[in-house]
Amino acid sequence: MIRPLLPAALRPRRRLALLPPSLLPPPLLPLHLPAHGRGRGLAPALARLLRQPPGSWDLPELPEFGGPLEAEGAVAEAQARCAALLGAERCWFGVNGASGLLQVALLALAPPGSRVLLPRHLHRSLLHGCLLGQLRPVLFDLPFDATTGLWQPPDAAWLERVLQAALADGPLAAVVLVSPSYHGFAADLPVLAAVVHRAGLPLLVDQAHGRGEALAAGADLVVLSCQKAAGGLAQSAALLAQGCRYRPEAIERALLWLQTSSPSALLLASTEAALLHGASAAGRQRRRRAEAQGLELRQRCQRLGLPVLAGGDPLRLVLHSGALGINGLEADAWLLQRGVIAELPEPTTLTFCLGERPPRQLLRRLPRILRALAAELGGQPLPPADPPPLPLVAEPELELGDAWRRPAEPVPLAAVAGRIAAAPLCPYPPGIPLLIPGERLDPRRVAWLQQQALRWPGQIADTVRVVAA
Ligand SMILES: Cc1ncc(COP(=O)(O)O)c(C=O)c1O
Repeated sequence: MIRPLLPAALRPRRRLALLPPSLLPPPLLPLHLPAHGRGRGLAPALARLLRQPPGSWDLPELPEFGGPLEAEGAVAEAQARCAALLGAERCWFGVNGASGLLQVALLALAPPGSRVLLPRHLHRSLLHGCLLGQLRPVLFDLPFDATTGLWQPPDAAWLERVLQAALADGPLAAVVLVSPSYHGFAADLPVLAAVVHRAGLPLLVDQAHGRGEALAAGADLVVLSCQKAAGGLAQSAALLAQGCRYRPEAIERALLWLQTSSPSALLLASTEAALLHGASAAGRQRRRRAEAQGLELRQRCQRLGLPVLAGGDPLRLVLHSGALGINGLEADAWLLQRGVIAELPEPTTLTFCLGERPPRQLLRRLPRILRALAAELGGQPLPPADPPPLPLVAEPELELGDAWRRPAEPVPLAAVAGRIAAAPLCPYPPGIPLLIPGERLDPRRVAWLQQQALRWPGQIADTVRVVAA
């Protein structure tokens, strides 16, 4: 995600010679994406490339360099190397983030008019992919933890029920799962992949926050973001493929449709460097070191009585701010003023990305600042969140693209029951839509959205764009 431009007060400062160090503001604690942490954790080959004369790396698709769609050249060789290293049969580099490659994967798996099964915590790029490919999204609900307000990964029994319900209304072209989540919690992918394959369907896994583990679990297509869980630059991404449930020509055709004809050589190099480094002995060691710091940080926070969630990726620290009585968005604003930049503020949690090389001061400073936050803003725990009133499986009543393009009007949330949404409601981050175009709003959903508007101050408008009457 991209944070709003920092207020000048938060930009790294040059040291003022006249001020003693004790009067200088503490250095920033950047705990956001890209995971390279403002350069510290860049893959070494990429850091070396960026030290070359500016612009020297900005190459066109010269014959010896090629591009993601060329059969020969340095890019083709790098893609083949990365595929082999990660255990895939094919790999394509992308220069429009995980977003662009998720759309490519969807269009490759599903012909226009077909239905694709998507989880409710989907990233909005998948919705845009459905629009571009004229696909019919079938959205499935997920287990919901009211205490933390977070969606949980489904288990096999849940996914089987979902598939049964979705297939009762007609065939599906593909199933999409997101794992790990933005917060770093992973689904049991081998078990879920087997469920999808037993239904005879291809599985695409959005691993924007993962490292390609979905391949060993049996996924057919996997999308990685090299800036979220590796040392690459924003927008560098990879699509990995294996097996016989996808057609390479369909992927290349979709890439041709969706990707620029001048892919940035820097971003392609970033993808290769990040993937190769992540799979190398040095990369694995760097990661182990970072994870050890992440686990130590969690323990220090827990020793101070701070509610941090355990069990997920050690490089994502999830503060359960609701347990302290603090909305995560409020906690984020308080921390920003003190130079701590988190990644993902939500109503009951605040998630920090520690990155591939966490900042030096992390272990010493963060627990202390979080304790000060609790002391200054804390109170009674926030009440549990109401689970979204969603059916197990639902399709928009009006076709997605039709609803999004029709004449629309803004209507106050309080008066919107019975109308059909013409635009998504989507707090960003995390970019997970709470409402999608084409869905008809019933009174329970409206009441829930009104509550959400209070929980996400400034993120959800008090009007909804609905299809004009
Ligand atoms: C789960 C998930 N998938 C995909 C994306 C899109 O990634 P990108 O911004 O690199 O295009 C995001 C972005 O936050 C995400 O959280």
